[in-house]
Amino acid sequence: MNNIEIQNVSKVFPRFDAGRNIVLDDISFSIKSGDFVTVLGESGGGKTTLLNLIAGLESPTSGEILIDGKKIEGSHPSRSMLFQQPVLIPWLSVKDNVAYGCRLRGDLDRLDYRVHQFLEMMGLSCFENAKPSSLSLGMAQRVCLARALVGRAEMLLLDEPFASLDTFTQAHIQEELINIWLSEAFTAVFVTHDIDEAILLGNKIILLGGYPGRIWGVYDIAEPYPRNMDCEKLKSFRREILANFKRAHVGNRRFLQ
Ligand SMILES: Nc1ncnc2c1ncn2[C@@H]1O[C@H](COP(=O)(O)OP(=O)(O)OP(=O)(O)O)[C@@H](O)[C@H]1O
Ligand SMILES: [Mg+2]
Repeated sequence: MNNIEIQNVSKVFPRFDAGRNIVLDDISFSIKSGDFVTVLGESGGGKTTLLNLIAGLESPTSGEILIDGKKIEGSHPSRSMLFQQPVLIPWLSVKDNVAYGCRLRGDLDRLDYRVHQFLEMMGLSCFENAKPSSLSLGMAQRVCLARALVGRAEMLLLDEPFASLDTFTQAHIQEELINIWLSEAFTAVFVTHDIDEAILLGNKIILLGGYPGRIWGVYDIAEPYPRNMDCEKLKSFRREILANFKRAHVGNRRFLQ
């Protein structure tokens, strides 16, 4: 199980001029085991910070994050983080990078097959023996996604993993990710600044906005997958979210206080 309760969480960073940067202010929401939650917000709005808190890489300044009733203390292999910048080991081949975490944990069951399967899904089977330095940014991000999926973590925390992909590759990988999620039933928290991506993927959307960053909307979306934005219901979610986002900004532009 992976039920998460984010309770009245605030995060304040020291600022370069010795002031305080209130990045998240009194954030509360819950994630049920098996949810695909998308976190939508503007650049600098605290999305990565929120993901780091759930991963246990940062601690809240106040409030609590509970997983199955227990306070998060540090990172844990059951929660796999896909960072906004792809992080690969430069001297290992693509396939060894993908297999690395599983080898460390001794999860060797059909490992070569799994690695190959996920690299093929990401359109990278020709690059299995390549070194990371020969990959484009979008290719490196896909290798990181393959590595996260091969690890069979109970929870995937994904920080704008498709931001560098072209429209066609993005649509294909989004579809593959949803298919894997539907069959494996892991919990996903997926950060994006793309409203359509948030709507197409999430069964729940958390809208972060304003300064300090607050929740401006929580949307439960029950439409079946695969989704497309021609659907009237999804279009109306889009309108509602955009209207709410504008509300977050009225008289509340992001500026240093
Ligand atoms: N370790 C840190 N120390 C100080 N300030 C930080 C730190 N991490 C983040 N911040 C500040 O927190 C705010 C939110 O940053 P964050 O990276 O969470 O935004 P984001 O929503 O992920 O943005 P983007 O979409 O550009 O990735 C920014 O003002 C940033 O300067
Ligand atoms: Mg970020």
